[in-house]
Amino acid sequence: MIILRVMLTAAVVLMGMTALEAVKQLALPDLSWWEPQISVVIISALVSTLTAYFALRQYRQVLGELEKWQLTVQEQNDQLVEANTALQIAVSERETSQAMTERQLQRITALRDIDMAIASSLDLRVTVEVILDQVQTQLHTDAARVLLLDPQTRTLEYFANRGFLDTACLHSHLRLGEGNAGRAALERRAVIQPDLAQDDNQHPPGLRQEPFASYAGVPLIAKGEVQGVLEVFHRTRFAPEPEWLNFLEVLAGQTAIAIDNANLLGYLQSANAELQVAYDTTLEGWSRALDLRDKETEGHTQRVTKYTLHLARACGISESELLHVQRGALLHDIGKMGIPDNILLKPGPLNDEEWVIMKKHPRLALELLSPIPYLRPALEIPYCHHEKWDGSGYPRGLKGEEIPLAARIFAVIDVWDALRSDRPYRAGWPVEKALQHIRDSSGTHFDPQIVQAFEQLGIVTLDEPRAESKQCSL
Ligand code: C2E
Ligand code: SIN
Ligand code: SIN
Ligand code: FE
Ligand code: FE
Repeated sequence: MIILRVMLTAAVVLMGMTALEAVKQLALPDLSWWEPQISVVIISALVSTLTAYFALRQYRQVLGELEKWQLTVQEQNDQLVEANTALQIAVSERETSQAMTERQLQRITALRDIDMAIASSLDLRVTVEVILDQVQTQLHTDAARVLLLDPQTRTLEYFANRGFLDTACLHSHLRLGEGNAGRAALERRAVIQPDLAQDDNQHPPGLRQEPFASYAGVPLIAKGEVQGVLEVFHRTRFAPEPEWLNFLEVLAGQTAIAIDNANLLGYLQSANAELQVAYDTTLEGWSRALDLRDKETEGHTQRVTKYTLHLARACGISESELLHVQRGALLHDIGKMGIPDNILLKPGPLNDEEWVIMKKHPRLALELLSPIPYLRPALEIPYCHHEKWDGSGYPRGLKGEEIPLAARIFAVIDVWDALRSDRPYRAGWPVEKALQHIRDSSGTHFDPQIVQAFEQLGIVTLDEPRAESKQCSL
């Protein structure tokens, strides 16, 4: 089947010819040699937009039919224009809906990026930077900035921006109700100014230098609290559509969540820090209570904690571990809470049964402290401070480096300070005698390297003066 396409120009149509006349004008009879292959003749007026066709078996029939139909090109044109318009609408709708789909996809991706930034960054600044990038990209704004509400002063303070040419925007302090942003925050609603030129009083100080034409400010509200304002600016007149405004508000919602998260995290961090201080104060209280029970050991715990930290630092223990070392030292003899007074405060040497009980104090410390997760990393000292380098210590008879480093360090300090102090069972030893004992015990009771560090560090010289009257001589 051959389709013959006859193009009629718009001019022909405009001349008001009937379709038949037009066909005749185009000397269709000359097409006779095509016969009989021509089965369809298509007449197009308005090239490429109007298409009329007549399904006929032969060109003679074309003429006959055309006369019969009495259809003017103009009439047909009307029909075709109508059809074409419908088609164009359909096409443009499809294009629009494709563009919309793409835009929606981009926006969903943008929101996902923001969610990821909120979830993965503890730093509000990082998250807000991500959000401002998306504001600029998705909403095609010329500039955008975030102001945060300071709850104390009730002012909106500049936090971050994109696209400003002048640094004046960095120095905004707006009271609630002041300027567009202040109004958005006070009235808890978006403030839209498609034409800033007509907006006499609202252009906030600091922004006059920037020739912005249009403005939108959205309050940042999380959990019912205004956190700040997201502001966007256009340098040319811009009347926002509902869809644009809707997405601006979605982005403002994300910003508010990010701020609320950051505030919550800040609150948790300070609450946690306060809790740590409270715990550590409690520990110090406990350790004082322990010292008080045995009046003679007063100050012992504070001193051994201080010297142990010195020596531990010199032995290369990291700052983060030092915290646990400190807690462990404070609590080293907490197990003595379980030792009866008649043994703990006995003025003379312990007998075998009493020793069995006394040697339980490291294990008692383990039982007392291990249920407290916060103190578990501090257990090495309370549990292992009576282990000896040669394996003859208690409770487990650990040997050499099997003994945790913190406990090896602490043992030297503890014995040093115990010897220098009065005990119910003996008076404190003078410096030389105590030092000699430490040296003599290197390699048996103590790790030789720790003894060396102890001497190098001059812990001996840090030793606080004692009540000499109570101390016996050699
Ligand atoms: P503590 O009085 O705080 O002594 C801690 C460690 O310092 C002792 O662990 C020991 O290694 C060393 N030390 C203290 N005093 C002396 C001493 O006079 N000579 C020597 N060579 N070393 C000393 P140790 O021996 O495992 O004792 C643990 C705890 O048992 C002591 O803590 C103390 O509360 C108690 N204790 C030890 N010996 C006696 C005693 O003869 N009488 C009484 N009542 N309690 C004792
Ligand atoms: C900015 O956020 O664009 C820089 C200004 C600032 O950090 O305060
Ligand atoms: C503020 O600056 O007002 C609190 C937001 C933050 O955590 O930085
Ligand atoms: Fe002990
Ligand atoms: Fe001690």
